[in-house]
Amino acid sequence: MEEHWTVGRVAELGGVSVRTLHHYDAIGLVQPSARTPAGYRAYSAGDVERLREVLAYRRLGFGLREVADLVGDPSTDAVAHLHRLRGLLLERRERADAMVAAINRELEARAKGLTVTPEEQLEVLGARLYDAIGGAYTATRRTEPRIAAQIWDALGDAQTVLNVGAGTGSYEPSDRDVTAVEPSAVMRAQRPAGAAPCVAAAAESLPFENQSFDAAMAVSTVHHWGDPIAGLREMRRVARRVVVLTFDTDEPGWQDRFWLTRDYLPEFTTVLADFPSLAGMADVIGARAESVPIPWDCADGLFEAYWRRPGAYLEDHVRRAMSVWTTVGPEAEQRAVRSLDDDLASGRWAERNRDLADLDAADLGLRLLIA
Ligand SMILES: C[S@@+](CC[C@H](N)C(=O)[O-])C[C@H]1O[C@@H](n2cnc3c(N)ncnc32)[C@H](O)[C@@H]1O
Repeated sequence: MEEHWTVGRVAELGGVSVRTLHHYDAIGLVQPSARTPAGYRAYSAGDVERLREVLAYRRLGFGLREVADLVGDPSTDAVAHLHRLRGLLLERRERADAMVAAINRELEARAKGLTVTPEEQLEVLGARLYDAIGGAYTATRRTEPRIAAQIWDALGDAQTVLNVGAGTGSYEPSDRDVTAVEPSAVMRAQRPAGAAPCVAAAAESLPFENQSFDAAMAVSTVHHWGDPIAGLREMRRVARRVVVLTFDTDEPGWQDRFWLTRDYLPEFTTVLADFPSLAGMADVIGARAESVPIPWDCADGLFEAYWRRPGAYLEDHVRRAMSVWTTVGPEAEQRAVRSLDDDLASGRWAERNRDLADLDAADLGLRLLIA
């Protein structure tokens, strides 16, 4: 007979009330599936494992709906959840350590009667973007097979591949010899076991000899680099072939290509204000550009992924895995989400975007530079 645990015992072990467990049961989040010899419902080992995930995500601050999405994702097994939870906790720890260090510095300065500048005070909260938001990345970001096929095709017969701004390893081809470069410790910590080796470095200064790789690839990362042109030059220097998935801001009216930025988040324009032109980037590496259509059911939760599934942008965990929302700030984010929510409820969004319903893929400005 399968081992089981009663609701009281599980509540005691998990440090939650029986009432909480009954609530999780009632909303279908964790339902006890075993039976005691007397016929009462009880928790199986699998149920306990799921409950552990639910309680851990709750403790990390996720809402019940977000937790339901996370634990209900059939593509994430127990080991993947453990990796994700580990990454989220490491991120917490790193941020807490950084805050403690900054507070210690400020206490020391005050004890010596020194003034602490506003910049120094804000330093307590400072962190590089992906060290701050990277923990939420793996909730929705993964390889989209159709985009991957286009990237891998562009890599040609390259055997050794450098993946710059590699993040958690999406789009890394498994049939080639990949080396990853990623500056964020939080992102590196979330790379799955068995992923390609990853070097802590930035694109602008790649720690490799000239022509060390058959190809260098960079996916959805160039807009984060401090100096995109310098980074692209570095890719050109270390590899014979360069493949870059990036964004086209050359086309007149590019801000209006996507309803989300056109109707709800015009601040997106300022996010890319200093971003080099596509032609300029292509020029640096001697590349041609290919359009990368985004399938309507795109598996990678990138900013444009949900163009035909607008309700997804109302979900906090979906937005947290897209850096744009953090960059525009909470005010713009809340306004955009509220306005979209209203338009979805009133039918205004559907009315305005009627033509999207029949499209299977959309060109929203993603381009593959191939050199
Ligand atoms: C949107 S993520 C993309 C990650 C991965 N390529 C993917 O497609 O899932 C952007 C990544 O670029 C990294 N990044 C930021 N600045 C960078 C720099 N100067 N050089 C290299 N990578 C950088 C971030 O840490 C983050 O992991």
